[in-house]
Amino acid sequence: PTPPRLYGPLRRNSVGVDLSQAGERDVLEQNVAKLETGPALEAGPIVSGKPKTAGGQPVSPPFDLSCTLGTVLEASEADVDAALDAAVRFQPEWDKCGGAARARILAAMGDALENNMDRLCALMAQEGGKTFGDGVAEVREAVDFCRYYAVQAEEKFEGQTRLPGPAGETNHISLHGRGVFACISPWNFPLAIFTGQIAAALGAGNTVIAKPAEQTPLVAYEAVRLFQAAGLPGEALHLLPGRGETVGAKLTADPRVSGVCFTGGTDTARLINRTLADRPGPIIPFIAETGGLNAMFVDTTALREQVIDDVLVSAFGSAGQRCSALRILFLPNDTADLLIDGLKGAMDELKLGHPGHADTDVGPVIDAEAHEMLTSYVARMKGEATLLKQMDAPDGGHFFGPAIIELSSLDQIEKETFGPVLHIIRYDPDDIDKVGAALQAKGYGLTLGVHSRLESFARKVRAVVHAGNTYINRSMTGAVVGVQPFGGEGLSGTGPKAGGPHYLLRFAAERVLTNNI
Ligand code: NAD
Ligand code: ALA
Repeated sequence: PTPPRLYGPLRRNSVGVDLSQAGERDVLEQNVAKLETGPALEAGPIVSGKPKTAGGQPVSPPFDLSCTLGTVLEASEADVDAALDAAVRFQPEWDKCGGAARARILAAMGDALENNMDRLCALMAQEGGKTFGDGVAEVREAVDFCRYYAVQAEEKFEGQTRLPGPAGETNHISLHGRGVFACISPWNFPLAIFTGQIAAALGAGNTVIAKPAEQTPLVAYEAVRLFQAAGLPGEALHLLPGRGETVGAKLTADPRVSGVCFTGGTDTARLINRTLADRPGPIIPFIAETGGLNAMFVDTTALREQVIDDVLVSAFGSAGQRCSALRILFLPNDTADLLIDGLKGAMDELKLGHPGHADTDVGPVIDAEAHEMLTSYVARMKGEATLLKQMDAPDGGHFFGPAIIELSSLDQIEKETFGPVLHIIRYDPDDIDKVGAALQAKGYGLTLGVHSRLESFARKVRAVVHAGNTYINRSMTGAVVGVQPFGGEGLSGTGPKAGGPHYLLRFAAERVLTNNI
């Protein structure tokens, strides 16, 4: 008998906590303090359910380099081999247990994440420099991924579908895991993207080797422990913390890997693509979600206050460290001065600081490398363009003051600068065809914003600029699972869209059985 449906049409996205309530904010701040004063955290490889942490290296939070948050042990070559062996061995059993059984474990993981919201937010503040607003949104996204993919697993991966055929013959199609999936994730969504990739691969019947970003292994370690507590067999998911060029490269070069799901930089995606093309063994799917050169086009009918609010959130929220963040703001010649004045004034209201304080709007950037990259970029651009404003940054951590730079031409920018740096270009909205085509020629296609009260203007922008996610008259970040499935085109990614109805299918093998018995 078919077990009853998990959520059916009643699945709802998670609600999170209300940060306007002092009580809720206090709980989050207390959790951060607990991590600061409690025992040092530990992370390391988890192979077949067995954690290994002894002998790890100390790591500091990005906002206070003088303190130690915990220790992290990198996976060794032997760990990679052991994880691959175990994952290959267990995969047929995991596939056979069916979509409905796997869905129940994913649903339990969603509940486990929700029940640990406060601790996870505190950990993301400490390790990833995430503000509480970002942390809560991220836990919610992780919960939603688990529940959404649970529904997909249950609906699409249980049993088989009968197809029409000649009399006397039956034809069925069914979906299966492909084998072992390597899930390689970035630091800027250490929980949501890490968990989302894994949940999708597992739901489709694959076993998983997860390689988190080197900057955020503690959050990843916690998430894998929660998967285990939710009932996931140890052999189904293995965690291998470590560097991309060692652990990541070894993993992707190994012919035992049957699929790679990657989120990160465009250059890294190219590198992995080359490794996969050159290695022996099967030809396998490569799902890559990468960066963007995201623009917003404003026309003269747009509402000034709304534009300023939405630009601030889109460009400087999460310290600009979202792939979806606004990088180039096109302002109409006629109203640009007014909008720039308003934007500069609004920036003065932003509070930069410790991500574990509830009133912080912008936390630190992730590490010294990111800080140096941004500092030298802004220094170089001062010579080539006009630095309109840069906020002061607090001392003591990797804080970088949000900056706006006016460019005289789109030729001055070729790729994503990952941080709180907004470029402004003045333009004539009557030339939108030409300006939009020049942006499109850069090759990216992740997010796009339009601010206008004219439907015809929005239509013209969309006709020439093709992005995976277009937002009209609102901010451009914070896609919601099942509502705004997320992902780009061209240099921004291969698709399919995370949190969308087709995502799990890319992790699957399709088999058809024609039977004349
Ligand atoms: P990154 O490319 O440096 O690293 C991403 C992951 O790849 C990490 O786990 C890293 O260790 C691993 N890696 C690096 N070299 C590797 C190799 N040779 N082989 C295998 N794995 C390797 O990116 P990042 O700095 O962690 O993240 C920021 C980037 O991610 C930005 O460009 C951002 O736009 C992008 N991003 C995209 C999305 C999206 O959905 N499109 C979402 C978040 C972040
Ligand atoms: N999904 C994330 C966003 O929309 C990257 O901001």
